[in-house]
Amino acid sequence: MVLTGAGVSAESGIPTFRGPDGLWKNHKPEELASPSGFAKDSALVWEWYNWRRDVIRKAKPNLAHYALVDMESRIEEFTLITQNVDNLHFEAGSQNVHELHGNIFNVKCTSCGFKADNYAVSNNAPKCPDCGNLLRPDVVWFGEELNPAVLAKAQEASATCELFFIIGTSALVHPAASFPSIAKANGCFLVEINTEDTPLTPQANEVIRGKASEWLPKITILYDKITGKS
Ligand code: OAD
Repeated sequence: MVLTGAGVSAESGIPTFRGPDGLWKNHKPEELASPSGFAKDSALVWEWYNWRRDVIRKAKPNLAHYALVDMESRIEEFTLITQNVDNLHFEAGSQNVHELHGNIFNVKCTSCGFKADNYAVSNNAPKCPDCGNLLRPDVVWFGEELNPAVLAKAQEASATCELFFIIGTSALVHPAASFPSIAKANGCFLVEINTEDTPLTPQANEVIRGKASEWLPKITILYDKITGKS
């Protein structure tokens, strides 16, 4: 099992949330990523999301994303849970990917049940084609429940996996940050790949301190050596 966070996409040029250059340094999550922020100023929220959609649209997967595609091709049961909304794991070619916090290119209606994937938005007040009410990004905001099916998948994979890579996440947002503890309680081996320490570092069986795009390709090469595939 693999859990990824914003650090995996950092080298694709997508800003992370925390840290000196993180999005939450200059923006308030409660204003831009919460139902109450959207109710207060939906145009501001859409302006921010449209800016992020532009940044992400121009970004390409990096070696970390591609190494995870490679890893999936070698392992019989492989589950990738991502907190990222940038679609880059899919773009790289990963298949068993579950987006815990949604996808920035998807929208849903604030009023009726309308939902659409990869939906073009051209202004800061996009309207539902079915009922005319305001659309919103189909992402999970602070204070909102995760998609129950995705959460169940993540919990099940956590409880049954033998090897768990925690990659590029500050491990501060729950429930994602609690998946490795579920795995560890079931005897799983935890590997953390991050440029910095996180609250999960003490639990990890192996800590790789560095960039995901540098270390993940090395791990797949090592796997080949160990299994005699190269
Ligand atoms: P954060 O921005 O909180 O953390 C990014 C992590 O990536 C940090 O621990 C960095 O040290 C690490 N990092 C940075 N560059 C790296 C690299 N090249 N290789 C490896 N690690 C690197 O992002 P998340 O943990 O993903 O939620 O944040 C979790 C959630 O908080 C997000 O999904 C978002 C945010 O608020 C919502 O919007 C609901």
